[in-house]
Amino acid sequence: MKVLITGVAGFIGSNLLDYLLEKTNWEITGIDNLSTGRLDNISHVNDKRFTFVHDTVRNIKSLKEYQIIFHLAALPRIQPSFEMIIDHVNENLINTLHLVELMIKENHYPRFVNSSSSAVYGTPRNIPTTEDEPFASLSPYAYQKEEVERYFDILSTRYPLNYVHLRYFNPYGPRSFNPENKFNAYSSVVGIFLYRFKHNLKLQITGDGLQRRDFIHVADLASANYLAAIYPHKLNTAFNIGFGSTLSVLELAKMISDNYEFIPKREGEAEITFADISKAQKILGWKPTVQLHDYIRKEISQ
Ligand SMILES: NC(=O)c1ccc[n+]([C@@H]2O[C@H](COP(=O)([O-])OP(=O)(O)OC[C@H]3O[C@@H](n4cnc5c(N)ncnc54)[C@H](O)[C@@H]3O)[C@@H](O)[C@H]2O)c1
Repeated sequence: MKVLITGVAGFIGSNLLDYLLEKTNWEITGIDNLSTGRLDNISHVNDKRFTFVHDTVRNIKSLKEYQIIFHLAALPRIQPSFEMIIDHVNENLINTLHLVELMIKENHYPRFVNSSSSAVYGTPRNIPTTEDEPFASLSPYAYQKEEVERYFDILSTRYPLNYVHLRYFNPYGPRSFNPENKFNAYSSVVGIFLYRFKHNLKLQITGDGLQRRDFIHVADLASANYLAAIYPHKLNTAFNIGFGSTLSVLELAKMISDNYEFIPKREGEAEITFADISKAQKILGWKPTVQLHDYIRKEISQ
C-alpha cells in the first residue's frame, strides 16, 4: 500500500507519520514545503518505508501511485487568514482543488482523507455539535475549509470521488508549538501555555478566558485518520473529531499555572467548541483515548 501525507513536517502530519509507521507496513511519501512545518519534526524518522519530498503540493504531477491521501498541508491559522487573504485562498483552497483535479484527470480515486476543522461551525447554535450543524464560518480560514468540503460534495455528483472530511476540534500534543513559526502566537493554546510555563513566562489568556474548547490529543487525530483511511466502503461524509467534552481557556490556564494575565479578545474565533462524536464512534469505531489532564500533568512535571 502506498500512501501520501501532505504537510508531513507539520504538527499533525508528523504525528500521523509516526502513528502510521508504527501501525502499518505502508510505504509513505510525505511532501512539505516547510512554510510552517520544520524538518526537526521528522528528523527522528529512520525508516526506509518513508520518503520525504521538499516541495509544494501545487507541484505534484500525479497521484496515480497512491491508494490513500492524507491531506494536511495548509496555512492553518485563523488570524493570519484575515491579513494574507490570497495566500490563504491559494494554500487552503486552490492547492486542494489541484489535487482533486489531478484525481479527475487521471481517473484515479484514492481514499482522500481531508483535514477539515470545527471552525466551519463558527459559534455553533447546538451544543454538543453534530455534523448536521450548518456552516457558519467566522474567518477566511474557516470559509476555505468549508469551501473545500463543498467542492468535494458537489464534484462527487459527477465524479467518483472517495473522501472523508475530518473536522478537528482543538488539537494539542507534541510539536504543536513551533517557536520558529511566525504564526506561533495563534497555534494551539495548550502548546503555547506549556511553552510559556516552561520558560517562566506569564500565560496570556485572550478575552475573559471563558471561551470553551474541546481539546483533542494528536494521537487520537492520527487514529481517526487511520480508521477513515481503511474503512472498507465509500464514506463521502464528514466526521467530528474532538474529545466530546469542553473546558474554558481560563480553566486550562489554572491547570498549568497561576501566573497568568489577560490580553485582548480576538475576532473570528468561536465562543465554544464541543463535539458530538457519536458519528465517528458508531461508523469508524473511533474513540479518543488521551485525557487532557493526564497530558498536562506529565508535561508540567518534566
Ligand atoms: N492544529 C489545529 O488547531 C487544527 C485544527 C483544525 C484543523 N487543522 C488542520 O489540520 C491540518 C494540519 O494542521 P497543523 O496544525 O499540523 O499545521 P502545521 O502548520 O503544523 O502543518 C501544516 C504543514 O503543511 C505544510 N504546508 C503548507 N503549505 C504547503 C504546501 N503548499 N505544500 C506542501 N506543504 C505545505 C507546512 O509547512 C506545515 O508543515 C491543516 O489542514 C489544518 O487546517 C488544524
